[in-house]
Amino acid sequence: MMTSVNGDAIRVGVVGVSRGMAHAEQASRVGMQVVALCDQHENALRKAGEALQVATYTDYDEFLGHDLDAVILANFFHQHAPFAVKALRSGKHVMSEITACKTLGEAVALVRAVEDTGNIYMIAENYVYFAYVQEMRRLYQAGEIGEMQFGEGEYMSPFAADVWNRLSPGLDHWRNTMPSTFYCSHGFGPIMYVTDTMPISVNALSIPNFESDEENLHVRRSDKASVRVCRMDNESLVSLNGHWLRGHGSWYRVHGTRGLMENLRDLDRQEQLRVVHETWDMREGDVQEKVYKPEFPMLGDLAQSAGHRGGDLFTNYYFAKAIKENKQPWLDVYKGVAMSMVEIQGWRSCLENGAPVEIPDLRDEANQARYEDDNWSPFPEDRGPGQPPPSIRGNVEPPAESIAAAREIWRKTGYETDYGLH
Ligand SMILES: NC(=O)c1ccc[n+]([C@@H]2O[C@H](COP(=O)([O-])OP(=O)(O)OC[C@H]3O[C@@H](n4cnc5c(N)ncnc54)[C@H](O)[C@@H]3O)[C@@H](O)[C@H]2O)c1
Repeated sequence: MMTSVNGDAIRVGVVGVSRGMAHAEQASRVGMQVVALCDQHENALRKAGEALQVATYTDYDEFLGHDLDAVILANFFHQHAPFAVKALRSGKHVMSEITACKTLGEAVALVRAVEDTGNIYMIAENYVYFAYVQEMRRLYQAGEIGEMQFGEGEYMSPFAADVWNRLSPGLDHWRNTMPSTFYCSHGFGPIMYVTDTMPISVNALSIPNFESDEENLHVRRSDKASVRVCRMDNESLVSLNGHWLRGHGSWYRVHGTRGLMENLRDLDRQEQLRVVHETWDMREGDVQEKVYKPEFPMLGDLAQSAGHRGGDLFTNYYFAKAIKENKQPWLDVYKGVAMSMVEIQGWRSCLENGAPVEIPDLRDEANQARYEDDNWSPFPEDRGPGQPPPSIRGNVEPPAESIAAAREIWRKTGYETDYGLH
């Protein structure tokens, strides 16, 4: 295993120069040095390479040949696992953007690559490190609200059609084809982090686009939102709501055996925390209702200027720390694949009208063997017999005028020529 030189910067390469550039910036603030970039979009890669003055590669295998300790993956949402496995098995530590994997078979391969190599793997679920989520974890661990019986994690992120099309170049781009149960970790990660619980099953239902919906101007072929209800390993339930519905924001609520905590919903007070106890169950020091804006427990000055309410700084900080201490981070491979499996198994559940579907514990080798060949995938490159559609309405085709409007935008961004979109 390649390790960084003690005290020296960890040499890191970044794949995907869109979201990846945010990682490149934060990595360099917490003891890592970005030394190489990789992207197949040549125009974007050239600009990014000039900005950072580092080596650039369009080919991932050649990029892995660069002198690197670690790789940060910010390539397409559903293509991380094979890239991560290759990097781990060539001696690199890996931090992967969400999602960890698109099939259960990939989940097994990823877990085995980490177990076999001992290299660090971290899923970059940044919402876990909002100041108020870190405070919720501190309070939960101190016993403030007892044990979670019900949790709610909600992530809504609607976009206007033109912005959507710019962000999603190509009819097969992951944003246009990802079923509504996917991208669940911004809702789920914080609840798992606060309570240290893991999912064991999921029931999910999907909401399609409506006739009256502006979404019909998009070229998305998947549904608008879903509700995923997870049974957790302490018998509690967690409801995950997301994610293209109107009303942008992230909300987390934990009902415990001794009280409730949640962040506020008003736009200008979402970073405030509300902690509630019942009047008939107050203990010494308890207050019936407390509302306040928590500070970061550390690195507050740096976090203030980092994206996603400081979360982008902390994912890079904890990745560097894990490498230096040679100890897997809290957001380890098992948490990463658990969140992805809620997305995958959640989609199975939607297509069976909400039936419960197991989330296997992949720390167990017997479960690894059971799922190693499970390649069930709703993504375009896997289309074929036995594979599921991206919508509960089936394989929906977008209207011709929406496709024409999207193509016009892709032409302007230069993606059309780079990817040969048509
Ligand atoms: N955690 C967050 O808050 C957050 C925010 C935005 C995006 N993301 C995640 O970051 C990832 C990237 O998101 P994005 O919005 O930048 O997506 P994107 O599709 O706009 O960009 C992906 C980039 O990866 C490159 N790429 C794809 N395949 C490649 C390959 N084989 N070799 C080299 N480069 C390749 C593409 O050319 C593109 O530039 C996704 O996984 C997404 O979920 C996370």
